[in-house]
Amino acid sequence: MTLLEIFPSLRSGMPSPRVDTTVWPCETHYDDLGRITVGGVALADLADQYGTPTYVLDETEVRRRCQAYRKHFPDAEIIYAAKALVTKSVARWVTEEGLSVDVCSAGELAIALAAGVDPQRIVLHGSGKPFAELETAVAAGVGRIVIDSLTEITLLSALVSRPQQVLLRLSPGIDVHGHPAVKTGVADQKFGFPLGSAQAAEAIERILRQPGLELVGFHCHLGSQIHDPDYYGEAVRRMVGAMARVRDEHDVLLTQLDLGGGHAVAYRSGDAEMNLYVLADILDDALDAACARHGFPRPHIALEPGRAIVARAGVTLYRVMTVKHIEGGRTFVIVDGGMNDNPRVALYGARYDAVVANRHPTGPHMTATVAGRYCEAGDILATDVRLPADLRPGEILAVPCTGAYHHSLASSYNAVGRPPLISVHQGRPHEQLRRETPTDLLTRDLG
Ligand SMILES: Cc1ncc(COP(=O)(O)O)c(C=O)c1O
Repeated sequence: MTLLEIFPSLRSGMPSPRVDTTVWPCETHYDDLGRITVGGVALADLADQYGTPTYVLDETEVRRRCQAYRKHFPDAEIIYAAKALVTKSVARWVTEEGLSVDVCSAGELAIALAAGVDPQRIVLHGSGKPFAELETAVAAGVGRIVIDSLTEITLLSALVSRPQQVLLRLSPGIDVHGHPAVKTGVADQKFGFPLGSAQAAEAIERILRQPGLELVGFHCHLGSQIHDPDYYGEAVRRMVGAMARVRDEHDVLLTQLDLGGGHAVAYRSGDAEMNLYVLADILDDALDAACARHGFPRPHIALEPGRAIVARAGVTLYRVMTVKHIEGGRTFVIVDGGMNDNPRVALYGARYDAVVANRHPTGPHMTATVAGRYCEAGDILATDVRLPADLRPGEILAVPCTGAYHHSLASSYNAVGRPPLISVHQGRPHEQLRRETPTDLLTRDLG
């Protein structure tokens, strides 16, 4: 018997061998029963109270990440990318921490406005913004709109009745070698205009001709899960060069440079993540050099992290439905969620860890594949994870680092409603989103 088994109270507050705080929220501990707690609440209790699967979100962790960005980039505007996860509370927390909000649909805009976000601090994005959404955004008075196409210039100029600040999205031709689905800095993809192209030149001219549109700067977004800060240094050099060309050719001084998001987080122990301290240094040096080279005044920098703000704050809880040892094959742990609440594995081949949350397992472990309940063989949540060999149906598995692009990407495939989102803070749970029920699904069915 170990000391911890004799005196379980020794465990609380100790860094746990089961959890790694580069992947789990900082406020993750053990309670006296050996159960994992986040934000002072036992995950097993949350599973009992709200059912499974359930998204858990640690408010303190979200706020800490916002504070880290403010600290490392004191002169930059930090714009939270709502696409990673947005609820009224999340929008409120990030703005209380001094962040602006980027939205890419009327739905995200409505949530931000309902949370009381100042429209001036909202930036609207999108590769194909419907006219009605542009109309809603302009009527709401959003601060900036990022222009993505020539059509949008026409639509927007027809809509505005007072000057609307806009940024133009450019792709700086930087290949971050990420998953093709999230590689957005290269020329041949659907967003924006290739930097230096004739279409980009035409877009600039057209915007400048519109009295209702005020071109204040350029925007770029290189991709996702980028851990090498040098790519952003290169983006600064190229984008400042493009801003200087606008000054030289049009005698217009652009003052804002939005470098998008894409900062990597660790999904599993040992994964590379973006070092904000190094990124800040690299951006600073690149700005100094590029501005000196072009005799250009230092632009206001904006960064748009989404994942890096909320990913680690999230943990998803599942209940084990069955454990299957396939003869001559793998051991599958089937849980009551899967690709509906976490499509990232199927979409991007993302890798996750999973641990037992309702007890501290002390016996032997097995290697298992955690699979979901949905009718797809590709409905896998985690492969080759170490789980207790005596894992039983009814136990609770927790998957860390699931705060970003989980709820926001979730579906109701097989007519299974989306999970609730429960935030935890100082020992108390708050139901932010309730579970989607069959009645919710039937409400839309007018047949
Ligand atoms: C324009 C833009 N900004 C910011 C983000 C946020 O990226 P991440 O969550 O990887 O930081 C995205 C993500 O796709 C994006 O398209």
